[in-house]
Amino acid sequence: MTKHRICLLPGDGIGPEVIECAEQVLSALPLDLEFTRAEIGFGAYERLGTPLPDSTLEQIRLSSAALFGAVTTPPNLPGYFSPVVRMRQSLDLYANFRPCQSIPHSTSRPNIDMVIVRENTEGLYSGIERMEDDGNRAITERVITRKGSERIIRKAFDLARQTNRKSVHVVHKANVLRQTCGLFRSVAFEVAKEYPDITMNEMLVDTCAMELVRAPEQFEVIVTTNLFGDILSDEACMFVGGLGVASSGNIGTEAAVFEPVHGSAPPLAGTGKANPIATFLATAMMLDYLNEKESAERLRKAVRECIANKESTPDLDGALTTNQVTEKVIRKL
Ligand code: NAI
Ligand code: MG
Repeated sequence: MTKHRICLLPGDGIGPEVIECAEQVLSALPLDLEFTRAEIGFGAYERLGTPLPDSTLEQIRLSSAALFGAVTTPPNLPGYFSPVVRMRQSLDLYANFRPCQSIPHSTSRPNIDMVIVRENTEGLYSGIERMEDDGNRAITERVITRKGSERIIRKAFDLARQTNRKSVHVVHKANVLRQTCGLFRSVAFEVAKEYPDITMNEMLVDTCAMELVRAPEQFEVIVTTNLFGDILSDEACMFVGGLGVASSGNIGTEAAVFEPVHGSAPPLAGTGKANPIATFLATAMMLDYLNEKESAERLRKAVRECIANKESTPDLDGALTTNQVTEKVIRKL
């Protein structure tokens, strides 16, 4: 049995609650795991003066993978920075994967099984911003590189191949953003030549937003730049159960961090209403990454059974608490 070192990043609000549940679920699986914990978020800032201590980045680097809850962003605190964006950039977690798969629940649309692959370190989130003209002109620069585009597009095609999918949609706005999206698009055509078994479709981002609503089942893999991926993946997760079940993975060359898509939901903290399933599905993605495919599948199956039986929190029409859902999942494992 391979030993894995898992770094838990509880964070703020409901983050520590759902991470605690995930630790219990992981401990119930036949795995050899060692857990470490590290600080991130507003609580960390209040205790240590920074929302992302260097020691946290070091812990993640030393681990096989990290599981992250969520953080609270304080409004207008001078000198505060987003620890999530900083973590992705510091660890070069360049590939963000968001699976969207139908769940056995009335709010979910049927036959959806796609993954949105988003570039996670550049584009409009490169952090190059300035004010000019006495604060009357604001500028944000959008940086797209050949290297950044090539590696994310290759990840998308590799994923399609590994999961027996037949198509990749490359989403851009090259008709208007001729330089940045133009580069992304032309790199996509080059990379696609190496994957003759996969069909590449290109689609403008506004069309994609519309097509996602009209017929989401047509998509297998979508690959796109940072901001577009952020928006489209939030849109898509609403067709398959919403924030209570949406999970994601951030994968780089030296580290990998898995997380629920939702935030710290301060009003839910301490109420027992937080749905832990998004974190369980992020945990399953982490197990896939660690090549523990059997445990990942077992966990996904247990979660699906709970959803189908309405053994869930109020957001999925159930009457159970966070801990009760966790107990049900563990029993099914
Ligand atoms: P949110 O995701 O925390 O909540 C949005 C809505 O979804 C709320 O109605 C909430 O009750 C519900 N919800 C969220 N997670 C749920 C769960 N597990 N089970 C059931 N319902 C759930 O987003 P919001 O309210 O915009 O932000 C709250 C805080 O979280 C802010 O400080 C924000 O900056 C931060 N945030 C952090 C993220 C992260 O750590 N990656 C991502 C998004 C927001
Ligand atoms: Mg988002």
